[in-house]
Amino acid sequence: MSSSVDQIKSKLDIVTVVSAYMKLDKAGSNFKGKCPFHNEKTPSFFVSPDRGSYYCFGCHNKGDIFTFVQEFEGLDFVGALKVLADRAGVTLEKFNAGEKTEKDKLHGVLKQACFFYQKKLSDFKPAQDYLKSRGVTEETIKEFRLGYAPAEWRELYEYLLSRDVTEKDMLAVGLIKKKDDNNYGGVASVYDTFRGRIMFPINDSAGRVVGFSGRILVDDDLSTGSGQANAPKYLNSPETQLFNKSEILFGLDKAKKNIRLKDYSVLVEGQMDLIMMHQVGITNTVASSGTALSDKHLIRLQRLSNRIIMAFDSDSAGFLASDRSAKMALSLGMELKITQMPEGKDPADLVKDSPETLKESIREAKHIIDFYVDNLLSRKLEPRELGKKIQKKVLPYIALLSSTIEKAHFIKNIAEKAFIKEDALWDDLKCIGLSTSFTTESEKQKNHSFSSRINSIERKIMGIIMWQKSLKRKAKMATEIDIEEMEKRMGEIAGERTEELKTRFDKEKESLLFETEAYYNDKTDLKREIDELLSGLEEEYLKKELALAMTNLQKAERAKENDKIGGYLEECQRISQRINVLKHKTR
Ligand code: UTP
Ligand code: MN
Repeated sequence: MSSSVDQIKSKLDIVTVVSAYMKLDKAGSNFKGKCPFHNEKTPSFFVSPDRGSYYCFGCHNKGDIFTFVQEFEGLDFVGALKVLADRAGVTLEKFNAGEKTEKDKLHGVLKQACFFYQKKLSDFKPAQDYLKSRGVTEETIKEFRLGYAPAEWRELYEYLLSRDVTEKDMLAVGLIKKKDDNNYGGVASVYDTFRGRIMFPINDSAGRVVGFSGRILVDDDLSTGSGQANAPKYLNSPETQLFNKSEILFGLDKAKKNIRLKDYSVLVEGQMDLIMMHQVGITNTVASSGTALSDKHLIRLQRLSNRIIMAFDSDSAGFLASDRSAKMALSLGMELKITQMPEGKDPADLVKDSPETLKESIREAKHIIDFYVDNLLSRKLEPRELGKKIQKKVLPYIALLSSTIEKAHFIKNIAEKAFIKEDALWDDLKCIGLSTSFTTESEKQKNHSFSSRINSIERKIMGIIMWQKSLKRKAKMATEIDIEEMEKRMGEIAGERTEELKTRFDKEKESLLFETEAYYNDKTDLKREIDELLSGLEEEYLKKELALAMTNLQKAERAKENDKIGGYLEECQRISQRINVLKHKTR
């Protein structure tokens, strides 16, 4: 296994792997981006191609390509190994033959079900006709592995059983249900969850099926099983070990690359909308599919791009759904735009009837705040009413913006459009309680700078030593600093503290390496910097010694211990002389 790990590492560089999930920008010899593992507005996530590692200064997450994929995709080590082996074109013989993990087994069950549904679709013309009538092409059916769940009670169940899948596993992935009703005499106690439905497999971001969403095809008794007329139009798999609704976005596996490339995502509400958007080439689209958009969904999208366009239908439900999510997105610092769809149309309808209108509505998507303002203005309210509505409906959104410049932009805009004085708007804005609870990066940094000068110099020196040692020979600085010489001097200055320093900074090695590299990599005269650091540290240590010697001297004077006074006095003089020499050297 470890040889596979090495093989994979030699074939995949960390920047390529990480870039497949999030935006990275060059920062010196490293790359940086917004940390995918915590909320942040300014990037503090660094990737080092040289060391094949990453580190986040905000949340201290660190690791290599394997831990990254593990964390990002929510996989265990073996899962990440498989994903990366696949990407690197390395075969994992041991694993293919060997024992499977529990999750693997469940993935396998869903894969078989997906295959079953696909087969059933190809055998059932009415379902194909339905999809055709909605404008879905053959390619889309294939690409999204659409299927059909026959209108029978136990077809999937029997099929899976014949392929040695246990009832327990079928239940675990939500493909069958258990009758809780004992009166159901004679008839078997389990039945297929999805019956008589067009099946949309839901994938995780690595492209593995984790659940399904089924759209009703024939609205009769079969699809509800109990003769109820109110079968839901869409039925989704229950939450399972593999399917976490507040994390999985439908279509993300196919859209993630395009979101990064186009630097914005499009969010739609349903399965049908999603596949149709991809069909017309708007491939950076994802869907929240049935559940409310969660902050986890948004953070996931934000990792790929900070800009998001919501393309919901214009009915009130869509409007409300976007309202909640909108506030979340703005408080995450995302740029949020909203499309204006023609009345009663959703993206799927538009793809079929008028794809140009759809594309135009996306091109002309308005910032959520402008969207609301324009909406109010179009209602031709009387001025007082308009003012009230703006205060109630629009200002809360502006309050969520973190940038004052942006706030000013919108305030000015509203003032002009609605004939309200800017000052009045600012006053009202101040009254809106800010509920954002995020600690900003600058606040964190402020806390950092409280540490003493000694600590900061020690940190810098140990950082340079560790950093230089971590570099491969050829990559070393052109300035040819002699790291052994530096260590020796450090040892002389710090004395017995050296060991303690080594242990202390070894604990935060990864962050220190990035910090040091970011800071010193482009410095032209590193040798001089190091010299100054060492002298500076010696000076600080001496100042401490001097302070101690002075206290001792004072004590001795007060206690009239004349025999000691001379010694302390001498010591004080010696230390201050040395400090003077050092000061001369550095200034
Ligand atoms: P809509 O009722 O707007 O359906 O629900 P739609 O997407 O336009 O579907 P088509 O075009 O009639 O096929 C929007 C989304 O809400 C979820 C589904 O994800 C759906 O796509 N939904 C809807 C459910 O989960 N259950 C339902 O019963 C209905
Ligand atoms: Mn629709």
